[in-house]
Amino acid sequence: MKFNPIIYSLLITLFIALIGCDSKKTNSFSSKDKDSIDSKVDSILKLMTLEEKIGQMNQYNGFWEITGPTPKEGQAAKKYEDLKKGHVGSMLNVKGAKEVYALQKIAVEETRLGIPLLFGFDVIHGYKTISPIPLAEAASWDLEAIKESAKIAAEEASAVGINWTFAPMVDISRDARWGRVMEGAGEDPFLGSKIAEARIKGFQGDDLSSNKTVLACAKHFAGYGFAESGRDYNTVDVSEQTLQNIILPPFKASVDAGVRTFMNSFNDLNGIPATGNKFLQRDILKDDWQFDGFIVSDWGSINEMIPHGYAKDSKNAAEIAINAGSDMDMESYAYIDHLKQLVEEGKVKESDIEDAARRILRTKFELGLFENPYKYCDESYEKATVGKKEFQDGVLDIAKKSIVLLKNDNNLLPLQKSGKKIALIGALANDKTSPLGSWRIGADDESAISVLEGMNAYEGNQLFYAKGADVVIGRTQFMWETKINDTDKSEFSKAIEVAKKADVVVMVLGEHGLQSGEGRSRSDLGLPGVQQDLLEAVYKVNKNIVLVLNNGRPLAIPWAKENIPAIVEAWHLGTQSGNAIAQVLYGDYNPSGKLPMTFPRNVGQVPLYYNYKNTGRPSMNEPESVFWSHYIDEQNTPLFAFGHGLSYSKFEYSNLSLSKKSFQNNEKIEVSITLKNNSNIKGKEVVQLYIRDLIASLTRPVKELKAFELVELKPQEARVITFIIDEKMLEFYSANSKWEAESGEFKVFVGGSSDNVMEENFQFLKK
Ligand code: BGC
Repeated sequence: MKFNPIIYSLLITLFIALIGCDSKKTNSFSSKDKDSIDSKVDSILKLMTLEEKIGQMNQYNGFWEITGPTPKEGQAAKKYEDLKKGHVGSMLNVKGAKEVYALQKIAVEETRLGIPLLFGFDVIHGYKTISPIPLAEAASWDLEAIKESAKIAAEEASAVGINWTFAPMVDISRDARWGRVMEGAGEDPFLGSKIAEARIKGFQGDDLSSNKTVLACAKHFAGYGFAESGRDYNTVDVSEQTLQNIILPPFKASVDAGVRTFMNSFNDLNGIPATGNKFLQRDILKDDWQFDGFIVSDWGSINEMIPHGYAKDSKNAAEIAINAGSDMDMESYAYIDHLKQLVEEGKVKESDIEDAARRILRTKFELGLFENPYKYCDESYEKATVGKKEFQDGVLDIAKKSIVLLKNDNNLLPLQKSGKKIALIGALANDKTSPLGSWRIGADDESAISVLEGMNAYEGNQLFYAKGADVVIGRTQFMWETKINDTDKSEFSKAIEVAKKADVVVMVLGEHGLQSGEGRSRSDLGLPGVQQDLLEAVYKVNKNIVLVLNNGRPLAIPWAKENIPAIVEAWHLGTQSGNAIAQVLYGDYNPSGKLPMTFPRNVGQVPLYYNYKNTGRPSMNEPESVFWSHYIDEQNTPLFAFGHGLSYSKFEYSNLSLSKKSFQNNEKIEVSITLKNNSNIKGKEVVQLYIRDLIASLTRPVKELKAFELVELKPQEARVITFIIDEKMLEFYSANSKWEAESGEFKVFVGGSSDNVMEENFQFLKK
């Protein structure tokens, strides 16, 4: 039967009418519609066999040349057969309106109940039009821009058939060695929570039934960013206070923002794999936080409980995972193979299966898939939408906002636009793939604007390019294996030659885009390969260097900070990377980014973060004493602090004042500070407010970000910026195992970086 949306809609209406409920248009955000969806879901569940319910909990990876011949044997054949039986609820990694249509058609037209599939994909920072890596976007501190970037990603991804993104990753991490820091919002739970909310709202919009929005997925629940030694997938052992105060807040914020799905994680947390962790999934997420969406496992993570030493075989793993609250199995085949038998043996409650299927079906209704399962499968719309001009403009905008000016001695930047000789050095400067960064599986290689192209658009200067040295050699697709060039310096001489004749040298150095991301942990945080040697060799002949960093994590580059006059943090900025960088270098965009993660001086300091505890020995009075918390060979302070970032404008802070020095519950203190732009250039500044709770039932960090505001000031303009301190702002997960504010003395700090603030004291008196 050929699919006809009108007939399908009529059939569904009839089907639902027959079982006693209406079929009004759905919208996931109104409670009236929620009730109506719930009753439709209940009605469908009544018609489903146990196998069909389990089928909803089964997610398969894309499996064969979908639009080609039917697979006859092997894994693909099994998946195909399961699909036809209605034993698949979702597919991942299937893309393209035509491909999605082909699979959806089987689900809708060949299965007994015709329940449509969810199509999930890692749309982490764009689908084909790539925005900056999430860590870079976090550096913008611009929540509207971040939301807009997610909105663009959703609109483009949904045009190719995708209706569910496995993003945002909301894992907090304090460890730059961990490759996946590129995928998150950095080290701070407050900033991370705000960004989680912005991303979710961008992806899901406020109408999931629109064909331009997709389901979001808060991942990885939980603790994944605290992998020991920064080594991916490693064990996680954290205290309850770190879990509650640092790791969980962005997940809670995700639920509050209405995220519809969660993904659990590969790691074990304090001895229990997250996938089999009832405390996390049932007690906290589903009970305490009342999350009514569903939880998907991470790839194969149900079966990974076997090597974890927590499940004896796949059947046992399925039992543990469902009992702990994991609703959907991504590629472990554990649910589809064992759940039915586990129910029959009384080891798994049928009501838990029903609950999981209900949660999954609910999202399908919210997306409007029961009304039109092919709503994301319009090939001509796909063609007109993917890569469109508005998306390019949008990702350029957020790319510029993500750049952080780390150092700018003697105003070396911005560059003059004419009459100068500029040397551009570095393999990454002429790379059209690396700027796409990690996790951009829908994008084409070579599709980014390189720095060389971006700078060539400014024609007033003479530009001389030399590679200097390769960063990586023999890149394989997706670079599963990283081959770093750590020997070949044969092109150094050409770089030195162009540097000698230049007024200013721009060097683009750092990590290739695929040197961070999943499975790409590093034990060294310097410039990979021979790049440090290249930098020093060029410096010998020309000290006027602007170092443009490309990287997916904080780097430890103390020599560069000491010697190089200007340093620009340009991360992996996506499709429009080169244009964004050139516009900042030439002053057509005044940078305003601030670091969302601490840059260490030395990898040995890691984990290094601004919200550390003071310890009992923060310093010693006797200058020669060694018995205090420090290193004998390195300073304690970071290379660049959390919140640091300069501008071409000069911002000055003055007059920090509090409306009162003490307050009680239901009262508040107004904190104000004067910010002045003491320059002749319009600019933006992120004003940051931190709090310290001096004496508490648990030791508290020396500073915690509690508010910020992105302020734009005209040349010489001054403005008073006001924040409100209330009881809520002082709450933390206390020794009483609950969120509360405690009476006592506090400090408030306001400034343009965590290490450059003005401070005042106040008291909170709890009644
Ligand atoms: C990652 C997830 C991702 C999944 C599906 C896993 O390896 O940890 O973040 O969503 O693969 O691609």
